Amino acid sequence: MSSIVKIEKKNNNLNIKWSDGEESSFNYYWLRDNCPTAHDKDSNHRMFNILEVSGNLNIKNFKVNEEGKLAIEWSEGDHTSYYDPKWLRENCYTIKNKKKYLSPYKLWDSSLQNNLKSIEIDYNEILNSEEGLVKWLELLHYIGIAIVKNAPVEKNSAFKILNRISHTRETFFKTPFEVINIPKPNNSAYTAHTLRNHMDLPWFENPPGYQFLHCLINSAKGGDSAAVDAFAVADYLRKNEKDVFDLLVDTPLKFRDKDYTQKAIRSFYAPAISLTKDGDYNDIRYSIATLDTLDCHPDKMDAVYKAHHRFGNLLHDDKYQINFRLEPGNIFSFNNRRLLHGRTEFDPNSGERHLQGYYMDRDEIVGRLNYLKK
Ligand code: OGA
Ligand code: ZN
Repeated sequence: MSSIVKIEKKNNNLNIKWSDGEESSFNYYWLRDNCPTAHDKDSNHRMFNILEVSGNLNIKNFKVNEEGKLAIEWSEGDHTSYYDPKWLRENCYTIKNKKKYLSPYKLWDSSLQNNLKSIEIDYNEILNSEEGLVKWLELLHYIGIAIVKNAPVEKNSAFKILNRISHTRETFFKTPFEVINIPKPNNSAYTAHTLRNHMDLPWFENPPGYQFLHCLINSAKGGDSAAVDAFAVADYLRKNEKDVFDLLVDTPLKFRDKDYTQKAIRSFYAPAISLTKDGDYNDIRYSIATLDTLDCHPDKMDAVYKAHHRFGNLLHDDKYQINFRLEPGNIFSFNNRRLLHGRTEFDPNSGERHLQGYYMDRDEIVGRLNYLKK
C-alpha cells in the first residue's frame, strides 16, 4: 500500500506525491463533495449539498494526522474532512485517466463454432453454486452468449435460474413469450419462416439488454439457430472501412412496430452502432423486419443504404456467424444489444417446435456480476 510523501496546494487542487512515485491531483470541489461524512450511512445517498459551497472554496489547513488520515480544514462552513489515503488512492481520477481503457468484451467470429463447449454451462451448476452463476454471468457479459444445458423442459421453468440473477423485463409479449407457429401471427417469430439475423425490439427506446430462449420442444425439421457477434463486425468496419463505420455511428435509423394486437405504435430513432464514453461498443440496432421507412436527408439516403447493406451482409457472413441446433432443455442466452440471432425455416408438419422467451435488462446482469465479484 502506497503512502503519502508530499502534499501541496496548486490552482484549486491538492497535489499528492505517493511513496511509489505516482502523483495525484485532487480538485477542492471534488474533495469537499466526497468528504466521508457526505453520505447517509443507510441509504448511501449523498446528503451533503455542494450547492451550499461558494464559488471560492479554499483549503485553510491540511495535514496527515496521528491516525494517518488526510485532514483538510475548509475555508468555509466550519468543517474539517478526514480522508483515508487508501480511499484517495483507489479513487484517484488522475491515475485512472492515465490508464488505457480496456474493453471487457471478448469479440468472436465463426471460429467459436469449433469451441462451442466454451460457451456451454450446466443448469444445475448455475442453480446450486455461486461459481456456476458467476460463470454464466461472465459468459453473458464478456462473450455475450451462453448456452445452458440440461434445464427442465416444463413450461415457465426457466424463471428458477433467471431469478438467481434478478427479475425479468416485462413487455407486452408477456413473460415468458411463446415462440411457436400460430395462425395470424403478430410477429414473424411466431411463424415457421426463416428469421434473418436480428435483435429483438429495436423500436424501444431501451431494447431489452438480454434475451433467454428456452427450448422445450424441437422435433420439427429445420429451425436451426444462428448467432453473430455484431460488435466484432462493427470492429472490423472500424478498422477497415471507416467511412461505413462512421456513417453507421452517426446516422439515426428509424425502427417501428405496428403490432395489430396493440393499441400503440412504438417507434424510435437510433444509430446502427452506438459507442460508450470510452469509444467502446455500447449497442447495435439491426433488424431488417422492423426498420421503418427511412426519412434521412435526401443527400444521405444512398450512402446510408449502402452502409446498412454492407453491415447487413457482414452480419450474415459465414466468417462471423455460428450455427447450432437447440435441444430441449437448452437455454440460448445472449446480449440482445450486441448479438444478432436467427433461425432457419422449419416444417411445422414434420414435428413440433416450442421455445419460451424471457428478457432481462443489462443492468441486472452487470449489476449482479459486480456484486458477486466485489
Ligand atoms: C424470437 C426469435 C428464434 C427461434 O422469438 O425473437 O428470434 O429460434 N426466435 O425461434
Ligand atoms: Zn428474435
